[in-house]
Amino acid sequence: MSFNKRVIAVLGGGVIGQSWAALFASKGNRVNIFEPNKDTAKNLKPKVLNLLQDMPNTVGIDEAKGNIQVYGTIEEAVKGAYAVQEAGPERVEIKQSIFKEVEAFAPENALILSSSSGIVPSKSSVKMTNPERLVVGHPFNPPHIMPLVEVLSMERVDENYLEEVMDFYKVFERVPIKLNKEIPGFVANRLQTVVVLEAINLIEKGVVSVEQMDAIMKNSLGIRWASIGPMLTGVLGGGPGGIKHILEHILNTLAIAMGKKPVSEETIESLQEETNKIYPIEDREYLVKHRDEVQRAIVRLQKLQRHKKEMPV
Ligand SMILES: NC(=O)c1ccc[n+]([C@@H]2O[C@H](COP(=O)([O-])OP(=O)(O)OC[C@H]3O[C@@H](n4cnc5c(N)ncnc54)[C@H](O)[C@@H]3O)[C@@H](O)[C@H]2O)c1
Repeated sequence: MSFNKRVIAVLGGGVIGQSWAALFASKGNRVNIFEPNKDTAKNLKPKVLNLLQDMPNTVGIDEAKGNIQVYGTIEEAVKGAYAVQEAGPERVEIKQSIFKEVEAFAPENALILSSSSGIVPSKSSVKMTNPERLVVGHPFNPPHIMPLVEVLSMERVDENYLEEVMDFYKVFERVPIKLNKEIPGFVANRLQTVVVLEAINLIEKGVVSVEQMDAIMKNSLGIRWASIGPMLTGVLGGGPGGIKHILEHILNTLAIAMGKKPVSEETIESLQEETNKIYPIEDREYLVKHRDEVQRAIVRLQKLQRHKKEMPV
């Protein structure tokens, strides 16, 4: 599917809006940005072009310059839009009034998407006539670099419409993941919250300094989780016993020592069954090779950057 030259509207020209605009413009689309703050609007285009400059496989800056327009009304920005990516302030009443206007002025089959970090579609769509058209496409900052987009729709959403939303993000080489349920904070930020809270707890207790904490993360979990997720880590770490071995012998012992609830027998069995299906025994040698290759590449890049800029370890 090619989106080249389609109109994509971005509503809000802050941190996230600028980054989305750069991503959409990178493939040669027309990008209409709505920004109500006149001072912000004035400097928007150069900021977006600046982000675009460092992106690989983009159209030329001159072409992008001609494709990006900044508007002072939603009506103008969404005119003829194939998709509308909202990136306004995280306030429910603002989102509600934005989507009411988008529905009134955007083409009737335009994709209507919200960047919200936590306001679910059932809340931000209350002023819309067809609320199920609103789908959350929550990026990880900055969206022109980070591939993940968490997609959350209302239950009654048309499956073809949702499929089109998923395809839309894939065209820009994002990785859209559709969540099965509404949950505050969605998934990536919930994981981040747990890890960061524990990091702060360890600093508060004097176990490590701030600098040591960052060094520990960058030189261990950061590298590991960029190559394989926590579930596959358990599978590969558990050897022939798979994730069950790791959970029973390591994770649960640590969980108890940390005063947390251990994983139940029932959950361990179901995770073992599911991971054996997704990561069958015969694929594991290949998966280890893949993990090691990605990890080596990241370590190499980290070393290179350190030499260049004298970054901390
Ligand atoms: N910053 C992040 O790390 C991050 C990550 C993922 C998602 N998000 C979500 O993206 C959205 C935007 O966040 P941000 O960090 O870019 O905020 P921001 O404050 O940097 O930008 C918001 C922009 O929206 C403009 N604005 C004000 N009223 C508006 C209106 N009625 N319609 C459209 N725009 C309006 C503001 O002038 C500002 O330029 C929020 O919903 C946020 O939760 C943020």
